[in-house]
Amino acid sequence: MSTHEQTVLAQFDAQARAYLTSAVHAQGPDLVRAQELARHAAGQTAAAPAAAALDVGCGAGHLSFAIAPDFARVVALDPAPGMLAVVRDAAAARHLPQIETVEAAGDRLPFADESFDLVCSRKSAHHWRRIEAALREMRRVLKPGGHLLMIDTEGEEDPLADTHLQTIELLRDRSHVRSHAPRQWQAMLAAAGFTVTAHETWPLRLEFASWVERMRTPPDAVAMIRRLQTEAPAEVRQALGYEEDGSFTIRTGLYWASPAQEFPCI
Ligand SMILES: C[S@@+](CC[C@H](N)C(=O)[O-])C[C@H]1O[C@@H](n2cnc3c(N)ncnc32)[C@H](O)[C@@H]1O
Repeated sequence: MSTHEQTVLAQFDAQARAYLTSAVHAQGPDLVRAQELARHAAGQTAAAPAAAALDVGCGAGHLSFAIAPDFARVVALDPAPGMLAVVRDAAAARHLPQIETVEAAGDRLPFADESFDLVCSRKSAHHWRRIEAALREMRRVLKPGGHLLMIDTEGEEDPLADTHLQTIELLRDRSHVRSHAPRQWQAMLAAAGFTVTAHETWPLRLEFASWVERMRTPPDAVAMIRRLQTEAPAEVRQALGYEEDGSFTIRTGLYWASPAQEFPCI
């Protein structure tokens, strides 16, 4: 029997190269917006970049590559060594020497307090079993006045649609923990010491065949997903935009946050 961390490694190490070319990961309006916000966090002027950024759950490195031109140092962090090898190769090919890789999980960040001007993460947090601890760690390593940029696929506020979504996600990929709905995100970020200043969302259409192929979902699990989809109640079919071939549409959510002001105890 394997632990969740072993399941994550088994899923991602073998598939690292597929993530470098996956259209869902290599592009998207959230990546464009992330680049704009990161530039703001770097405080870019005409001067050479001086700021440092941390990308937690970097996968094949798309967020790190997008923000790198505005930072003197970008740490691409992931527990899967196969992903980090892909990042190193791709960073060299793109002439981005400011990117370095670190093998670690988000809930145990091997950095001193207040090390980074920007801490960011994209399409990774739904795999984190200890998400509250990871958010506290991200808060700890952020400099005062720094920014948090968190992007992930969102869960549904409606419990019925949410249960269906989490179920098909888990059948497709055993390393899935939970796509958190916006209200859960707001509560978790506040509890970790962040003030959210912006929340933006985009529809994300997941094309069924490539969605299951990327995770090498076994045929019996694919059949179970299709059965759940075809037998789903109308409310769920509508909320998740189920199509004939099993493709469906969820949302990508972006949170832009700062360390909360701390008030002295009187
Ligand atoms: C879909 S990929 C990330 C995509 C990437 N950030 C991008 O922008 O294309 C998800 C990554 O999260 C990583 N991951 C899983 N659990 C993690 C954890 N607890 N802490 C940090 N990263 C984790 C996986 O190893 C995997 O590389």
